[in-house]
Amino acid sequence: MSIFLGIDVGTSGTKTLAMREDGAILAKATVEYPLYTPHPGWSEQDPEDWWKATVQSVQAVLSKGGIKPGDVAGIGLSGQMHGSVFLDESDEVIRPALLWNDQRTQDECDDIESAVGGRANLIELVSNPALTGFTAPKILWLRKNEPQNFERTRKVLLPKDYVRFRLTGEYATEVSDASGTLLLDVKNRVWCDPLLEKLQLDKSLLPEVHESEVVSGKLSEIAAKALGLPAGVAVVGGGGDQAAGAVGNGIVKDGVISATMGTSGVVFAHSEEVQTDPSGRVHTFCHAVSGKWHVMGVVLSAGGSLQWYRNQFGEMESAIAAGMDTEAYELLTAAAAKAPAGSEGLFFLPYLTGERTPHCDPYARAAWIGLSLRHGRAHMIRSVMEGATYAMRDCLEIIKGMSIPISEIRVSGGGARSGFWRQLQADIYGQDVCVTNSDEGPAYGVALLAATGTGAYSHIAEACEATIDVTGTTSTDAATKAAYNKAYPSYGKLYESLKGDFPTLCGLAKA
Ligand code: XUL
Repeated sequence: MSIFLGIDVGTSGTKTLAMREDGAILAKATVEYPLYTPHPGWSEQDPEDWWKATVQSVQAVLSKGGIKPGDVAGIGLSGQMHGSVFLDESDEVIRPALLWNDQRTQDECDDIESAVGGRANLIELVSNPALTGFTAPKILWLRKNEPQNFERTRKVLLPKDYVRFRLTGEYATEVSDASGTLLLDVKNRVWCDPLLEKLQLDKSLLPEVHESEVVSGKLSEIAAKALGLPAGVAVVGGGGDQAAGAVGNGIVKDGVISATMGTSGVVFAHSEEVQTDPSGRVHTFCHAVSGKWHVMGVVLSAGGSLQWYRNQFGEMESAIAAGMDTEAYELLTAAAAKAPAGSEGLFFLPYLTGERTPHCDPYARAAWIGLSLRHGRAHMIRSVMEGATYAMRDCLEIIKGMSIPISEIRVSGGGARSGFWRQLQADIYGQDVCVTNSDEGPAYGVALLAATGTGAYSHIAEACEATIDVTGTTSTDAATKAAYNKAYPSYGKLYESLKGDFPTLCGLAKA
């Protein structure tokens, strides 16, 4: 049976897995690398680290899985979206890449919206508003702030597409990741000439754009030698990490949506048509399913809020967990379960790193509101989990409001590993949630795309059908669901009451 490799160039490391044609995972390996923040709000990585991690993780997978190199029939690439790798005419990397969570480009976002006569016009052109994380404002930032580097730039590649370039020598991307550059005409799945013209950006800076399962190039002799594979192995387009993760979770048809609670939280819905939210609160991108789209809401600090709590206040749980061979999260969750649903009127706003959906507000800040003498640790932990889950419900409500059907919610990520948090999600979403046999995320999704693009399956939906099954359902509890339905509007009002103060707080923090 043929074997397919899925490579996910993530923010903390690159994960590679080997999948047999029938979906079985044979081996996986992750190699980590650093992230640099040379100034507040900046977030950068060295693309050479991604390449080294790719080579090491592929070698590790081949050796762990005892895989015969000649059996590898295709490679799929996924990665953190929106990052910018600037290459000169000799294909050298000019400066460290700016990442998806870099916040330096608010001025350039404003410039882009005014260049086209406002946010509504931009949404008309590229289906999305300008957000600091996206790629186009990063290119404008380079032009304004490092003109000598901009002058030398001949190509701008996304993180996984830089790895593709090192694998194949091709400058290529695919529609799902390209959507997050803000330079793709998402409706027509081609680069947006009118916007490039308005921004005075030369189209030759951009790579060729394919559908996600299309073979974008073949493994070169040099790369093949480095990886320990034969030259000529097909490398398919792949997908941005969210679209690829959704494929890996079987989100390839209408009605089935995913709620992934990792550091950030993402609610992702497949869509047969291009559908935009008029105020741009959710992203509308091309799906990694040929000719289809997706809508997604992004909560910047979902599981990240509980992680922050653990890091700052969970010393005791971390110490006990270390002695018990368990995780601090298990103890924190057990403590949270002691407080009642709704945390007796205590709310946590999870805006530790600003917020994308629904507020598009880099200045938003986190808060506990409603503390009284009655409240203790259990309430505080539970309210953090509830706040992150209300934020996910905000995404769901916008998607529902766009008349996208939601018949099944598949939960994954750290927030789906705990039975308590799965129950909390069902009760706050007001709908049963389920889990699948597939929790390998984007690397699995692109291994399936590689299998489809090289002919093992006729369509990605067929590949998902053959490999992904629902393995468990958590049903809502009527009384708890009712309690959360009553509390949810108060959560929403708190941001509205505080939003005018957040920019001042950010100013004070800088002073
Ligand atoms: C998606 C997004 C993140 C990054 C990093 O819009 O910003 O998912 O791709 O994971």
